[in-house]
Amino acid sequence: GADVLPNGHYGTSIKLNWALDFNRGILLAHKMNGEPLRPDHGRPLRVVVPGQIGGRSVKWLKRLILTDSPSTNWYHINDNRLLPTMVSPEMASEDPKWWRDDRYAIFDLNVNSSVVYPENNEELVIASAPSTYTVKGYAYSGGGRRITRVEISLDKGRSWHLAHIDYAEDKYRNFEGDLFGGKVDMYWRETCFCWSFWSLDIPVSDLQASDAILVRAMDESLAVQPRDMYWSVLGMMNNPWFRVTITNENGRLKFEHPTHPTKTGGWMERVKKAGGDLANGYWGETVQGEAPAQQESAKEINMRREGLSRLIELQELKDHVSNGEPWFIVNGEVYDGTEFLRDHPGGAQSIISSAGMDVSEEFLAIHSETARIMMPGYHIGTLSTSALAVLQDNGLEEQNNSTEPRKTFLQSRYWSKTTLVRKKIVSSDSRIFTFELEHPKQTLGLPVGRHLMIKV
Ligand code: HEM
Repeated sequence: GADVLPNGHYGTSIKLNWALDFNRGILLAHKMNGEPLRPDHGRPLRVVVPGQIGGRSVKWLKRLILTDSPSTNWYHINDNRLLPTMVSPEMASEDPKWWRDDRYAIFDLNVNSSVVYPENNEELVIASAPSTYTVKGYAYSGGGRRITRVEISLDKGRSWHLAHIDYAEDKYRNFEGDLFGGKVDMYWRETCFCWSFWSLDIPVSDLQASDAILVRAMDESLAVQPRDMYWSVLGMMNNPWFRVTITNENGRLKFEHPTHPTKTGGWMERVKKAGGDLANGYWGETVQGEAPAQQESAKEINMRREGLSRLIELQELKDHVSNGEPWFIVNGEVYDGTEFLRDHPGGAQSIISSAGMDVSEEFLAIHSETARIMMPGYHIGTLSTSALAVLQDNGLEEQNNSTEPRKTFLQSRYWSKTTLVRKKIVSSDSRIFTFELEHPKQTLGLPVGRHLMIKV
C-alpha cells in the first residue's frame, strides 16, 4: 500500500492459488457501486479479499509481489495473528518466533453472530408489550461459507430454538446482467460473502422467565461458535455465544449487551467491576460454592506517579513540544510518551499527534484499565490551571508567527480553526460536513492513509 505507517508501508500476503481461484472472488477494485473508489476506501486501486479479515484487503495498492514464502512486511508478521492461548504478553514480546509462525496468521473470518434487537439498554414494558418480541441480529462466516443455522437459548444453553435466516445476497443468485457497470456473476457461485440476517419471535412471557438471550451460529463446514472465549494476546477473533442479559425491574424488562458499541458500559464491564471472573465459563456469574467476589467498583485507577509534585507552565510545555517531545495532557496531568513510542499498540503516531494537547476525552474513551495502570510510568507533572485553560480554549498556537497565508491547512501538532459551511444529510446516521479552508489556494495537507481529528 502507498500508506506509510509507523513501521513502514502497509503490506501483507495471501496465497497465490487463492488469488487464482474464481470461487474466492478476490478482486483488484477501482470502483464501488459504479463510482470511483473514495480516498478512504483505497483510491485509486485496492485489493478486496471477500470472506477474510479486512487486513488482507490492502488499500492504495502500489505493488504486487510474487514470492515463494509469506510476506516479511512488519504488519504481516506483527498484526492479525491469533497466537495460541497459553502465549502470555511477556512470551509474545520476548520471543519473535510466535509471530513468525505463519500457522497463527488469520485469513478467513470465523463463524460469528450478534444480537441487534433488543438493543443495549432497551426496555420493554411488560403490561403494554405485544405477546411476542422479535429478536433480530446478523451472522456471518468466513471463506464464503454459508451460515446454516442460528440458534437462540433462553436457559443458559440447555435448549435451543432455531431462528429464521435471510441471506440478502440470494436475491442476486438468479440475476443475469450488469449492475453498476459490472457483470453480476453469482449464478454459478455458491459462496456467501455477505452477512445474513436472522430473526425469531419469542413470547414475552419466555423473556420474562429468562435471565439472558444467548445466540450461536453454525456454518456449512459445521463450525459452531464456542460457548467460551478463546483468550489470545491480541484479543482478536473472539466469537463466543453472544449474550444479552435480561433484568426484570418494576414491570419492565431491561436488556444489556456485553459491551456498549461506542462508550463504556455493558454487562461485561458490570461483572468485571463487581469482581467476577469473565473467563469462569459462567459469564462471570458466581458459581455454587464460590466465595463472593470482591467489589472493585470503588477502586479508581490512579494514573499519577506517587509523590510527584512538579508544576508545569505553558512555556515549558511549548518548549518541549516544539523540540518534538510528545508531552500530552490527560485530566490536567502531563505525560511524556517518548519512551513508549516504539511499543505503543496504537502506533507511535497517535502519541506524536497528541503532543501539546489535552487529549483527556480521546484517551479515556480508547484505553482499557491495563493501559491506565501503565500511566504513572509516563507521568511527569501537573499542568498549571492557567495553562490548562489556554489549552482547552484554543490549544497551543502555531509557532510560526509569519503573516504569510499558509500553503497547507493542517498542522500535524496544532489544532487549526475552520468554519463549517455545509452539512448534507446522507442517511439516518451519516452526514457529509464541508469545511472552509483559509484561502482558495490552500491545500488540506492530509497524507494518504492518515486520519484527522475534529473537535467542536
Ligand atoms: C504513554 C502513554 C500511553 C500508554 C501507556 C498507552 C497504552 C495503550 C495500550 C496498552 C493500548 C492497547 C489497548 C488497551 O489496552 O487499551 C493502546 C491502544 C491505543 N492507544 Fe494508547 N497509550 C498511550 C498514549 C496514547 C495517546 C496519547 C493516544 C491518543 C490520544 C493513544 C491512542 C491509542 C489508540 C488509537 C490505540 C488503539 C486502540 C485500538 O486499536 O482499539 N494512546 N494504548
